[in-house]
Amino acid sequence: MLNVVRKTLFASLSIIHDKMKKDLLTLRDLSPDDFEALFERAFELKGRGGMGIPDRTLYGKTLGLIFDKASTRTRVSFEAAMVQLGGTPIFLNARDTQLIRNEPIADTARVLSRYLDGLVVRTYSQDLLEELAAAASTPVINGLTDAYHPCQALSDVMTILEKKGQLEGLKIVWVGDGNNVAHSWLNASAILALHFVLACPEGYYPKEDILGPAVKDTSGSIVVLSDPKEAVRDADVIYTDVWASMGQEKESAHRKAVFRPYQVDQALVALAKEDVMVMHCLPAHRGEEIAGDVLEGPQSVVWDQAENKLHMHKAILEKFLLSGEQ
Ligand code: CP
Ligand code: NVA
Repeated sequence: MLNVVRKTLFASLSIIHDKMKKDLLTLRDLSPDDFEALFERAFELKGRGGMGIPDRTLYGKTLGLIFDKASTRTRVSFEAAMVQLGGTPIFLNARDTQLIRNEPIADTARVLSRYLDGLVVRTYSQDLLEELAAAASTPVINGLTDAYHPCQALSDVMTILEKKGQLEGLKIVWVGDGNNVAHSWLNASAILALHFVLACPEGYYPKEDILGPAVKDTSGSIVVLSDPKEAVRDADVIYTDVWASMGQEKESAHRKAVFRPYQVDQALVALAKEDVMVMHCLPAHRGEEIAGDVLEGPQSVVWDQAENKLHMHKAILEKFLLSGEQ
């Protein structure tokens, strides 16, 4: 009799857990209030960390990181965030798992959900990520797909807030490929009503099914141009990223030729506001999308930008791993 009661209790607990789990697959999963709370907590954690105050909010939690693409910053900042908050990360190169031998992604997700309190996943296909998240009973966080890089855009906006003190009235200009990071910036722009301008070569604009809804939904402004000089005029922020993203290596040579006029060099930066700040999610290719002297110059904030991934990832992990407990 006692066993039956226990079984029923555990079954209902697992249903409650399933219902409560929230994923971060795109920034469209977040409300403006969620953004605000994440920024506030990330700044708080950064301040506390700087003062040497320990936080153990994720004590007893275990995070899996399944990565099917290379990563330095995202992997290490999520792992360090977990350790610093008292939890445990487990890194899984997707190629070392049974995924490589065609175990279905949904089976993998269901099993890992029984061991772990959440997953950060870096892979190619957004559809695959969504399939994984639908089968997982614990939160799934997008650590980059071909379509999006939501955690990157969150820590990037945090960096702008930190340096500029506000988002209102800023002209933020994306120069280069309308890629996964640009897509997450479009989502962020729509939700936060940013003034976001993109300069992309024709044929390399953001995907219409991401750009269109962002333009429609924003109460700020989103403009796509093909002339980088026109785009950066009076810019407060210039942002660039690689010309060939992971998975596009075969297109590299062609892209180098197409994107050459889109290099963020001193001449382009000179057309923006005097106090413009230059951002790059890294890794950077000096002499391609960004000139070496710009990356190393006084307007570049790339190292602080990279650091903020740690603080923002802590805030994200708290929000999603503890969501069923709040
Ligand atoms: N910016 C970023 O996501 O870097 P990694 O590819 O090194 O994780
Ligand atoms: N757009 C780049 C971002 C790397 C962090 C890529 O997907 O390779």
